Amino acid sequence: MVNVAILGFGTVGSGVAEVLTKNGGLIDQRVDDLVRLKYILDVRDFPNSPYADCFVKDFSVIEQDPEVDIVVETIGGATIALDFTTRALKAGKSVVTSNKELVATHGYDLLQLAREHGVSYLFEASVGGGIPILRPLTSCLAANELTQITGILNGTTNYILTRMIKAGLTFDQALKEAQENGYAEKDPTADVDGHDACRKICILAALAFGQHVYPQQVPTEGIRNVTLEDVAYADSKGYKIKLLGRCLRQPEGKVCAFVAPHLVSDENPLAGVEDVFNAIAVTGNAIGDVMFYGRGAGKLPTASAVVADVIDIAKDRKKDHHNAWGPGAPALVVSPDILSSRWYVRADASMDQARLACGEIQPLARAGAPAGEAAFLTGQMTYPQIRDCLKGMAVSSLFRVLD
Ligand code: HSE
Repeated sequence: MVNVAILGFGTVGSGVAEVLTKNGGLIDQRVDDLVRLKYILDVRDFPNSPYADCFVKDFSVIEQDPEVDIVVETIGGATIALDFTTRALKAGKSVVTSNKELVATHGYDLLQLAREHGVSYLFEASVGGGIPILRPLTSCLAANELTQITGILNGTTNYILTRMIKAGLTFDQALKEAQENGYAEKDPTADVDGHDACRKICILAALAFGQHVYPQQVPTEGIRNVTLEDVAYADSKGYKIKLLGRCLRQPEGKVCAFVAPHLVSDENPLAGVEDVFNAIAVTGNAIGDVMFYGRGAGKLPTASAVVADVIDIAKDRKKDHHNAWGPGAPALVVSPDILSSRWYVRADASMDQARLACGEIQPLARAGAPAGEAAFLTGQMTYPQIRDCLKGMAVSSLFRVLD
């Protein structure tokens, strides 16, 4: 018998209970043992829940029950979740989570703690929701030196950008719609300002390059500054605006990681990833390019990834399931300023001024553009170079082109 406790009966936690119950028969078969949901921890009451008998309010009941093998943490955040995860690992229980904030900020320490106590800390659901990405990265692609990862990692912002592109909604209108559809939180800051994507690229970078990359080391820009004008200019030359999380291997074991809106050519499969879908493109020195696509959020897709981790641990509780990485260091993460790319610029200027400032440019046009507005694509240059070129110009938008 393998006993599971779920911490937090929100969207993901209730999805995990549902998948464990609905697919109980096949899960038991695959594990070759009985996997039983023993506890659900939540401060709220759920008297009419089919799992009413499982609810407890005191974490120490779970912590002190030697029968509990696996704790599923779906509380979120990095405060109570950190305390409970630490205590569960110290009590010799494996922990499975979808909590990207906790993994991105404390993953190194928690993985060390798990190893010290001979248990596992797994978090497949923390990146890409239901998309299998972390395990493929560390096992199916293990023969590669991974060189870069580029991902649409946040469903809410991808939905907002899709609605701006396809329905002509403004950012505010699209955000309101996303909230009404239950995609965006009431406080959408973590999504629209890029923090959620930042946490996910930190986890991907750590697994791909072997060192913890902390969110505060990753320059992060969200989508609040993307306008319908930018969408129209990009469209005129066959580009979509997408929020990308990127990490690139650098010489001497260094890593470059950042989150920012980019212009993505319609020829790149990432441009066709719409609505709340996520996609992650990985480049390795043997495989070349490979892409993972699917539902990056939502109750059952996320629960699917969480329960897969539960099954993995339950199948072989003695196996070392660890995805260990190094502690990281400030000097290991380099600024994206070193990366050359083409740039999309929208500014109050004439095209002649733009040419004078930036050299060879590709002018962009849109219906209804006011006189005195110039939008264009530059040649390859770094951020310090484009910043110097644009000195003295009133710039409204500046985004990289994904080359
Ligand atoms: N808020 C996240 C998103 C949920 O919109 O992608 C999944 O991490």
